[in-house]
Amino acid sequence: MKFSFLFVSREHRQLLSLLPALFKHALRRRSTQLCRDDRSYYITTPIFYVNASPHLGHLYSAVIADCLHRYKLLQGFKSQFATGTDEHGLKIQQAAEAAGKDPLTFCTDVSERFRHLFSSCNISYTDYIRTTQQRHRQAVEHFWSVLWNKGLIYKGSYEGWYSTQDESFLTPLQVSDALDSSGKEIKVSLESGHKVEWMKEENYMFRLSAFRSQLLDWLRGNPHAVQPERFQQAVLQLLQEDLPDLSVSRQRNRLQWGIPVPGDPEQTIYVWLDALVNYLTVAGYPHEHDQWWRVAHHVIGKDILKFHAVYWPAFLLGAGLPLPKTIYVHSHWTVEGKKMSKSVGNVVDPLECSQMFTTDGMRYFLLRQGVPDSDCDYTDNKVMKLLNAELADSLGGLLNRCTAPALNPAQVYPCFCPQSFPREQGGRAVEEDYHMLEAVKSLPAVVEKHYESMHMYKALEAISACVRQTNGFVQRHTPWKLDQRDSKDKRWQDTIVHVSLECLRIYGTLLQPIIPETSNKLLSRLGVQPEERSWAALNFLSRYQGLDCPFEGRALGVDSGVLFTRLGTQNVDKEKPKKTKKSANSK
Ligand code: MSP
Repeated sequence: MKFSFLFVSREHRQLLSLLPALFKHALRRRSTQLCRDDRSYYITTPIFYVNASPHLGHLYSAVIADCLHRYKLLQGFKSQFATGTDEHGLKIQQAAEAAGKDPLTFCTDVSERFRHLFSSCNISYTDYIRTTQQRHRQAVEHFWSVLWNKGLIYKGSYEGWYSTQDESFLTPLQVSDALDSSGKEIKVSLESGHKVEWMKEENYMFRLSAFRSQLLDWLRGNPHAVQPERFQQAVLQLLQEDLPDLSVSRQRNRLQWGIPVPGDPEQTIYVWLDALVNYLTVAGYPHEHDQWWRVAHHVIGKDILKFHAVYWPAFLLGAGLPLPKTIYVHSHWTVEGKKMSKSVGNVVDPLECSQMFTTDGMRYFLLRQGVPDSDCDYTDNKVMKLLNAELADSLGGLLNRCTAPALNPAQVYPCFCPQSFPREQGGRAVEEDYHMLEAVKSLPAVVEKHYESMHMYKALEAISACVRQTNGFVQRHTPWKLDQRDSKDKRWQDTIVHVSLECLRIYGTLLQPIIPETSNKLLSRLGVQPEERSWAALNFLSRYQGLDCPFEGRALGVDSGVLFTRLGTQNVDKEKPKKTKKSANSK
């Protein structure tokens, strides 16, 4: 459409003079709308205890959160992603003592190990918090004072069971009898199996019992607050039980390694209250924090559900702050059917694994095999089989076929021919080909739904099924057998390759949050530029819709080798020192 500005009436001129103001107004409206549209996103991992080196389960929490962060960025959100280390408490104090180090040096050493693991595995956090940082202490002290000033903390005394390993208070019903390794009778937590001790001390109590009905209202009014559903049910169940007030401090003479209670140096703040506030610290609390805090989402393991879905929301309600939007809960990794444990010596070192199977390989395995609803079992063999089948053979094989010089001598994104693959049948495409197009067209929405609910394995299952269908499409039409000198055959051959490359572009784009390096390699090989890799740029097979395709005729990117190298038993034998109980324990 063309406009002519030659003959402008008086009314029009008046209208034109208003334009800058209208434009400003529209901009202002748009920016407030953007704020309200919640185009900001804040995702967190639990902060990791520094009493031992990172293991596979820790990497799993981090990879899930990293995937959600990358996915939101691709969708055009401003996203902030926090991880870090939980450094206070009795457990850490004892571990530092046992290592003969002063607590801060000890914490710094282990915290660095986590940081190293995360950068090796492309965990793209935007903030790494340590609870020993000054900014965090300030946030905790402020948070405490708010609760105190509202009369929600009172001086009392606690008598009951305590598990140092879990840093958790337990009711008599949550405890059972057991024997320790020397045959001595002890009490253990029913849930974690960790030893508990009877403690009786004067300390500060939080009026947790007062929040029961508000917590129930929150969960009933937000059926997706805790995901998956079974964990929401588990929290509702917890709230049916007795909800006693919570001890939120320890006597200083027992616990020195922590933040002192403001105004009472004889008491140290309970490590879970201290730790949970980390999420606020990163958001900017006690200063400006609203932009991030109102869009907070937490990823946690099932063992710390009570702390996040009962204590934390109660603290937040008490402090008058909004509650997290979602608490994503994942299950645990076992090893050959057994719980991972230092004493059994079966702890899987995630750094070692990512050296054996590549970083993307481990990320793919964890997210493809990890089912949030139930525990999953780890074996090297499973990793190898899965990666060979899905990344090396299926996805890598498809790319290799469609970019091989024999089939694609010009090394371009060839042209699509609407006569060969018309929207109505009648060309050379067959019914199954149309089904494949339908599946790939709807794939982004399917993947989006599963990423949103942390069911990455379902998203990967769907992508993997589509990759198989595309391989089937190529196999069915054997484009390498077509005569390149025959113009009709050539057009059909180009169409087959064009469609396959379009499928690969969709898979590469959708897989970016899961396997960023491999996706980058794939998309670069297809000649897809960085700004063409967002969710909004997906537009599958626009030529089939009768629209232009920006890739058609474009040169492919450089060939930088196979997409994912097949793994053999030599990978495991070569890289992995045989694990002994001692080497698993040593840090
Ligand atoms: N420091 C607390 C969290 C405080 S958050 C305010 C903590 N730390 S942890 O290091 O013990 O655990 C961190 C995360 O690792 C938790 O989400 C936990 O569920 C996860 N995992 C620990 N063992 C695991 C497996 N075996 N498998 C999967 N994840 C597991 O708890």
